[in-house]
Formats: sequence, C-alpha cells, structure tokens
Amino acid sequence: MDAWLTGAVVVVAVLALLAVQDLRQRKHAIRRVYPLLGRLRYLVEMVGPELRQYIVTGDLDERPYNRAQRSWVYQAAKGMNNAVGFGTQLDTWAAGSFHFLPSVFATLTEEAPNAGAPHVVGPNRPRPFRVHSRINVAPMSFGALSAAAVRALAMGAAEAGCYINTGEGGLAPYHLEGGGDVIFQVGPGKYGVRTPEGTLDWARLAEIGRMPQIRAIEIKLSQGAKPGKGGILPGAKVTEEIATIRGIPAGKPSVQPNRFSEYHDTASLIDFIEAVQAAVPVPVGMKIVIGDTQFIEELATEFARSGRGPDYISVDGAEGGTGAAPPSLTDHMGLPMRDAVVAVDNAYRRHGVRDRITIIAAGRATNGADVAAAMALGADLVSIAREFLFSIGCIQALRCHTNECPTGVATQSKWRQRGLVPQDKAQRVAAYARAVQDDLMTVTRSVGLKSPADLRRNHLEFVLAVGKRMNAAELYPYPTLEAMATRPANLAEAA
Ligand SMILES: Cc1cc2nc3c(=O)[nH]c(=O)nc-3n(C[C@H](O)[C@H](O)[C@H](O)COP(=O)(O)O)c2cc1C
Repeated sequence: MDAWLTGAVVVVAVLALLAVQDLRQRKHAIRRVYPLLGRLRYLVEMVGPELRQYIVTGDLDERPYNRAQRSWVYQAAKGMNNAVGFGTQLDTWAAGSFHFLPSVFATLTEEAPNAGAPHVVGPNRPRPFRVHSRINVAPMSFGALSAAAVRALAMGAAEAGCYINTGEGGLAPYHLEGGGDVIFQVGPGKYGVRTPEGTLDWARLAEIGRMPQIRAIEIKLSQGAKPGKGGILPGAKVTEEIATIRGIPAGKPSVQPNRFSEYHDTASLIDFIEAVQAAVPVPVGMKIVIGDTQFIEELATEFARSGRGPDYISVDGAEGGTGAAPPSLTDHMGLPMRDAVVAVDNAYRRHGVRDRITIIAAGRATNGADVAAAMALGADLVSIAREFLFSIGCIQALRCHTNECPTGVATQSKWRQRGLVPQDKAQRVAAYARAVQDDLMTVTRSVGLKSPADLRRNHLEFVLAVGKRMNAAELYPYPTLEAMATRPANLAEAA
C-alpha cells in the first residue's frame, strides 16, 4: 500500500512540476494557457501523420488552409527545414492547378540575390511610399486581433522589412511597435478618425497622415469575405481600450455601416479620394473586392484623363479571410483574387497608365509560388493575413468571431492572450516573412528572371483538365500589345 501511495505522490509531483514548467515557459502558447493538456497537442501532432493515414483527414483535405499549407508556415516561422521529401502531393492534373514555365537558363543566385529596388507607391505624392518587401501584412484590426498579436505582427514585420496595415479598427500604439512602416486604414465606421457624430474627423486624419511611421492611407471600400457589409466586432471584444481607440461605446457590438456616406458613385468616390489626398502628404489607396468591372473601367478612364484617383488599389479576392462575416457573403460574393487582379491590371493597361498605379493582391497567398502567381497575373505587391496569423500560433480553430480563440490571436481575453508572447512570436513573423521573400526569389530565378516585378502571365500556365493546359496570357489575355508595353519584360518582348 505504501508503495502505491509513494508512486501516486511521485506521479502527482511530476505532473505538478510539468504544469509549472508549462505555465512559466514563453515559447508555446498552448502549453502556457493549458498546462499539461497542451502537451497532448504535441503528442498527437507527433503521431498524427501515422494516425491520419488511416483515419480523419488527409494533408490536403482541410479548408480554408490544408495541413500541408499550415505546416509550411509553421516550419518557416520556426526557421526549420520546410523542404518536402519524395515529391509533390498535389495532383498536377487537377483542374485549376497552376505551374510556372521554368527556364533552362535559370538565373544564378548571385545574379539576383534579392528582389532588388523597392517598389514606389504614389511616386508623385509629397511623401511617396518606398515598399521594400513584395509581401506585407494585410489589414487586420486591433479588436479582431489581440494586442499581443498586433504587437508580434508589428515587431516581426518591421524586422523583415514589411509594412503592416492597421485594418479598420483605428491606430493603436501596438501598430507602431518595432518602428516599421504602417498603412492606416479607414473603414465606413471611421474608427480612430471619427467625430462624436460619426462623421470623418479631417483634422485627426491629417494628423495621422503626417506621422513619420504612417506611409499611406487606405480607404476600405470592401473586403473579400464580406463585400457590402461593414466590419463586425462582437460586444465581448469591444473592451474599454478598443472603444477608446475606435471612438465607440464599450461592451456593445461594433457594426460598421456597409458603405461610406461620403460617396455614392464613381465621381463622388474620386472626389472623396482627392480630398483625402489633399489632407495628407502620403499616398492614398483603396481596398476593394471586384464585382462590376465597369467601375474599374471608369476609375482607369478618369485616371488616364485627369490623373485623379487612388495611388494604389488593394484587391481582395472572394477567398479572403475575416474576423466575422455572414456565410452568404463569404461563400458567394465577389471575384476570386486571380480574376480580380487581371480585371484591374487590364483596365489600367488598356488606358496606358498601368505604370502609374500600384496593384496589391490578397487571397490565400501562402508561399512564394502563390505570391509569384499573383504577381505574374498583374499584382505589384501581395498582402498576407491568415498565414501571418499561423506564424504567431493560429491553429485554424475558426473561432475569430467568438472571442474564444484558443491561441490568444483573435481574442480580447487576457487569459488566452497570456500564451502569445509578442517578443517571441515577432521572431516567427519575421522568419515566415523572410521565408516567403526567399521562396519568391527562388521561383523568380527558376523562371529565368532577376526580379519578381518582371513576372508576366506568359510565365504561368493553368491546367483546365487532364491533358489540357492553357498559358495564363491566353486564358487572361492582355488588352493590346500597346497596353502591355507600359511595363518591361512583357509578353510582347517574350514572344
Ligand atoms: C482576423 C481578420 C481580420 C481582418 N480585418 C480586416 C480589416 O480590418 N480590414 C480589411 O480590409 N481586411 C481585413 N481582413 C481581411 C484581410 O486583410 C485580407 O484581405 C484577407 O484575409 C485575405 O488575405 P489572406 O487570404 O492572406 O488571409 C481581416 C482578415 C482576418 C483574418
């Protein structure tokens, strides 16, 4: 009996020690928040591949991101070897899959060690924005995300030379941590630049636009996951701090109007953008989901005629993520990113002004090949949201809209945030960003180019069915040879 008792005491003591170790360590969010229990996750992860081979899901089954995609991010963020052994798991005949056309004369690494010169947004603005990284952190508000998550993203992005976008929840001190570049986003709720009556506080907007770290102002017209619906933040997430930053009451759900009251058609939208441009020295862009391509045509026509219009357009695909959205909009609204990028690229090419506008794309770009595909189709830069969340510990629990995110990423619960140590996770953000930057260069060199900015549609092919491939330049034709000539290394030159 004594032996049993001694044994039990030893087991309890060991478990208690392990629990204390879990609570004190700062590396693993899950263990820090769920001592002992959290270890099971790592155990199951360890034997997971074997178990899953017989039961549950395959590596390519889950959505929105399958395990193979998530693992790539996790490994990249931890600076681990993220090569694959034995060959691709993808069905290379599957309709919709894409492949680049590799050059026999791949560019030597020393000939193109990095992406080269920065991309300049709004070259004619008093303070043009020199963007150093082709991939950057997409808008995600403080409110949808925790303070710990925003801090980690801001510090990590700064370290990797990326900018961060505030999202539509106003400017928090956390966005400025790390001293990196920041885009300030304004949504229809005008959070952070809102008068008590709910109109735009122009003086505050001008003040923010003159801050040294603020590099651009972005007007958020719509978001891929919920076009035509304003941002939604459940009451549980509207803390005192968030309410103060946004200029709204605490504890009540924060629902933004589904459109700005400042404009109602293309002409009044352009007037509004022009007024914002007059108020701030930095470039002014807009974020949209593409539906009616006639609108883009009007925008490009006016830009070519008078030079009026946004300095950049950020195109969010229908596959884009969200903190909270109605399924009908998430599942059935707007063009996917690739079609949307082509629509905007072609409109500005058609009018011969493609070289004067920046196109940013967002929509499930996980690795260098995804980024390269978006750039080949017409984007200059690519925004990444959810993949950066994976880098700080997101496990795709799909609970962003509940305040119960188990990893402390998309919750305001102090207890859950405890597991996310910003300084530690910032390193992972930076490591993931660098891995994608490197991966993009690997694809670029393999295609025989020196800069990802030289990627064009003719470098890319899509599989339509078994045995049927189509070059992207044929699937998504450039408008005219003249229009294509606005940028170098285009199809005309390649032909
Ligand atoms: C938690 C969360 C919050 C977001 N908040 C905003 C926002 O405030 N403003 C905005 O324009 N987009 C917002 N988005 C959309 C992202 O900026 C991005 O456009 C979209 O998720 C596509 O990128 P991804 O496929 O890499 O996630 C949010 C997305 C997520 C996942």
